[in-house]
Order: sequence, then C-alpha cells, then structure tokens
Amino acid sequence: MCGIIGCVNPDGGTREVLMNGLANLDYRGYDSAGIAVADGGIEVAKREGEIDRLQKQVTARSDTLDGPAGIGHTRWSTHGPPTDANAHPHTDETGDVAVVHNGIIENYQSIRDELEADGVEFVSETDTEVVPHLISKFRDDGADPQTAFRRAVERITGSYALAVVFENHDTIFATRDGSPLVIGVDENAAFLASDVPAFLEYTRDVIYLEDGQFATLRSSGVEVTESDGTSVNPSVTTVEWSADQTAKSGYNHFMAKEIHEQPASLRQCLRGRVNELSGSVSVEELSDIDSPESVQLVACGTSYHAALYVARLFRAHGVPAQAHLASEYVTAPAPFDSDSLLIGITQSGETADTLSALREAQRRGASTLAVTNVVGSTAARECDHVVYIRAGPEIGVAATKTFSSQLATGNLLVEKLCASGTKRTSESTRELIPALRDLPNQLQSVIDNSTAKSVVEEYLDYDAYFFIGRGLHRPVALEGALKFKEITYEHAEGFAAGELKHGPLALVTQRTPIFAVVTGDGERAQKTISNIKEVQARDAPVVAVTDGQSEVRRYANHTLEIPQTHPRIAPVLANTQLQLVAYHMADRMNRSIDKPRNLAKSVTVE
Ligand code: F6R
Repeated sequence: MCGIIGCVNPDGGTREVLMNGLANLDYRGYDSAGIAVADGGIEVAKREGEIDRLQKQVTARSDTLDGPAGIGHTRWSTHGPPTDANAHPHTDETGDVAVVHNGIIENYQSIRDELEADGVEFVSETDTEVVPHLISKFRDDGADPQTAFRRAVERITGSYALAVVFENHDTIFATRDGSPLVIGVDENAAFLASDVPAFLEYTRDVIYLEDGQFATLRSSGVEVTESDGTSVNPSVTTVEWSADQTAKSGYNHFMAKEIHEQPASLRQCLRGRVNELSGSVSVEELSDIDSPESVQLVACGTSYHAALYVARLFRAHGVPAQAHLASEYVTAPAPFDSDSLLIGITQSGETADTLSALREAQRRGASTLAVTNVVGSTAARECDHVVYIRAGPEIGVAATKTFSSQLATGNLLVEKLCASGTKRTSESTRELIPALRDLPNQLQSVIDNSTAKSVVEEYLDYDAYFFIGRGLHRPVALEGALKFKEITYEHAEGFAAGELKHGPLALVTQRTPIFAVVTGDGERAQKTISNIKEVQARDAPVVAVTDGQSEVRRYANHTLEIPQTHPRIAPVLANTQLQLVAYHMADRMNRSIDKPRNLAKSVTVE
C-alpha cells in the first residue's frame, strides 16, 4: 500500500540506497516507482510500472541522480491510474520541493480547487500533489522549509506518511498520521521507510515515529518533535530481523520460501512459550491480562480467517467469542462489557480497517490486544497489550507463514487466557502441548511429501475451484480459496461444507473441482463425507486433504495427506497443503506470485 524510502547520506550512494529500498518495498505496491535526490537542485526520475522500468530509466540518464539526501516511492494507486505523471515523487511548479506520500489526503479536492484558483497548474490526478504546491505557497510567503512543511501538513486531513526534500538542503523532513513510518539511524547516515526491510541492510537501529510527530533527518542526526514543536527524545530500538531474512535465498518466489520457512517460524513462535513438563503455556506478554468474560476479534483477509479459528477455540473453552471483519465492525460494533477483550489480528500491524476497528473499540472503553508480527507497528503500539507471532519478515503479498503462526499463537493465547479463569474446556487440552511440539516437524513432512504439484496438473483450466471444510476446517477452506484466487486469478470460493446444499451446490459441475478438508473419523468428518457425496453426485471431482483416518479416500479422486495430530493442529497442516496447491497452480499458470495484480501487502487505507 505504497512504500516510502528516504536516505540522508553525505558520503554519496543515496541513489543506490533508494533503489535497493524500493526493491525491498515493492510488495507494498508496484504500479509505479520514483526517486528524487537533492543535490543542489532536485533531480527526479519516475516511471509507471515495476521498479525494473525505473531502474532502466535511472541507468540511462546522464545526470548522477545522487546527492546527500533523497526520497523514493513505490505506488499502489488510489487517486488516478498508474501513469508516469501520477508516479511519486511530486514536485511544485518550480521543482524546488519533492514529496512522497503513503495514505490518502481526504480534503485534497478543496485544496486543489483553491490552489488552481490561484493559478497553480497541476500535472497529476493524485491527492498527493497538493502537498508540494502548498509547501511552495508557504515558501513564497517567506517560511523556511521546516515551517512551510508544517503549515502544509496543518492544512491536510486523512492518513499520511510524508517525506520531503528541498533544493539546496541535505535534509529530509517527514511526518506521519495514520500511515507507517520508521526511521533508521546509523553513525553517518539516516534512513526512513514505511517498513524496516527497506533499509535493513544498512542499519537495524530504528525509531518508530508516533502519529502527529515530525522528524528532521540530517547526517548529523535525527530530530523528532511533537506537532506543536516540542522536542522529543525518541527511543532507539534494535530490530531482530536480518537482511538475509528478506532475500529469496535460492527460491523462485518469496511465497515458496515462506511456505518452506514455516517449520522454523513455528519453532520461533512456540519457543519458550510451551512447557511440556508442566503441560502449560506461558506467554510473557500476557502476564498482566485477566481472563476475559467474552472476546471479540477483528481482522481482515487471511488474518480474519485466523480470527475465525481463534474465536472457535475460545468458544470451545466456554468463552463467548466472535470474529468480525474489521471493515464491517466499525459500521455496527458489537456491544461489550468491561470484562470483554477486543483482539485485533494483523500480520503487519498497519491495516487501516483493523486499526479503525481497534480504535473504535478503545474509544468505547474496551481493553485491546494486538496479535501481530511487526514489532513497533501501529497496532502493537496503540493496543493495551500485544503478543508477537514471531514469524519473521514476510515479503510475498500472499500471507503464508504468518497465518500458520497466527493459528499457533491463537492456541497459546486461548490456553493462557482461559487457564487462569474458571472457564475450562470439556475437550481435553492435555494432548495439545505435545501436538504443538510436534507441529514444526509434521509441517516439514507435509512440505517434503506433498503431491500438490502433480495434483494441480489434473485441474488446469477448470471453470471454478471450491474449497469446503467444517468446524475448525472452515477457516482453512476459506483461506485455501483466498490464497488460490489471489495468486491464480481463477474463480475460487470457500464454503462451510454444510452450506453447499443451501445454495452454492447450484454452481457445482464436473468442471468445478472441490477441495475438501476432512480429518479424524468423528461425526464431523462423516458429515463432510456426505457433502462430498453430494458434489460427486453432480460429477464434480474431489481432492481431499486428509489425515487418512476417515474413509474419505474411498470417495476422493485425489488425496493430499497430512499426519495425524490433535484436532486443533490439523488445520495448520491442512492449510499447508492448500498453500502448495495455490502456489503450484499459480506457478504453472505463470502468474506474478509474489506480487499479484491489484494487491499490496499492507493495506493502509480504508
Ligand atoms: C492475503 C493477505 C491479506 C491480509 C490482509 C490483512 O494473502 O495477506 O488478506 O491478510 O490484508 O493484513 P494484515 O494481517 O497485515 O492486517
């Protein structure tokens, strides 16, 4: 959802830092890219399309595009189509100031009307372009760069992370409100970006800017102030992620790498949190939360599927729990009382819909908990409590390892929050601890032995692909379909297995393969097998994801096997098979797997 990079580097090499940063950020948007470097005057290069097109332009230019300060941007279009003119950075009419922006300026039209009435000529359709023109206007009135920037920011409403460079200044001015911005500090250089991986190869020491704060980056250091100009002494945090975690490391796609990383990321998620001897779970971050009387979860996309799973776990422990799509939650928040807990599940910690839902709940007095992967993210900082899923950086737009770590963390959360209270499950959790312990190895065996690649060969060019599951497997079916449609661009839908006969069955034909998740040999599995027979009666081929306990293989055209495990853990393993199905199908179809069309990793607008 647009990526920003900035660098102040008196020794030169700014262009390289910006281009590397953009390459590391392109999962945030790939409609266009551009850089602006202040070297006396400001030099701008920008191009519609992916970063390699900008790289060609930059390489072909005779000017150096290098200097002591520069900013860059990779765009996910909101206002105006992806064109060269709409690409950032945007400048004023004289080219003395250049601006990059992530977010949405809600009142841009009235500002634009006002500036146009004063004779300013706009060259793009973006909301962002009002900012350099406003700054220029205040400069003409005699304001210095910093004051002009602040006065421009006072005029805009909406969400933004902004970075600005001026002619003849080796400084970057920046601010944020509602969109992420993190600053990197090094001895002789300073960086800023929407996300840490952008500058991880240069520094791991970061300052998380708060909403409303302003930063001035110079080679001599970084100055942070509140919106009223009061100076802030920011704390510097060292991030644990390393640069090679954000490289493809021999895989063709980040998605493949991240699917294969799941055994390691799950080990990391569980490390020190599961005690086999005492059969207990300890999550340090949760030591000061009381057991909630009820739980509401808010999330989007894949994280919403994790929320559906976690809500079921709470309910199995006797705690009323409901998962809500964050974008819908704000339209009619469910009532809660003082003992309720509002949990936001968000990999990035920056999803605007989820943040809005969490803020709305906080405004109404709820206690909030963020379950996130990104240390220092907005959700982590704004919520009353935070639990990290510790999956490591995820670059592929399609979430994979963060989903499995969200499910694992959900188990820890429920065990921890329900163990201290009176709410105990009737379903035994005794076997859960060894199942969690075995999960990384079992997941490795799923990856090693999966036949997903050959199975998808049988189902190329079908009309649509349906995914079904019951109980804890329903979120897996929904997630399987989301992953599939997201990267193959084929029509895919996930359904509760029992719902098929209430409508979707009308879509089922011999041209619509059904991926059915069925494990165990209990009543639920039997019922799903009945649903499978219903689709087979309509000639639909069936691929069963199963642990071999049920008789489903007698009915399925193909099976994708997972090892037997605790019923709560089987969904994590089953989901891995569906990740591989989506991945191999998309690879076979030559799709842009890591950067699916129209999508971006972190959606920072509502
Ligand atoms: C799909 C996917 C998205 C995200 C959603 C929420 O593969 O990644 O559906 O899950 O945009 O993102 P986070 O978890 O960052 O809030």
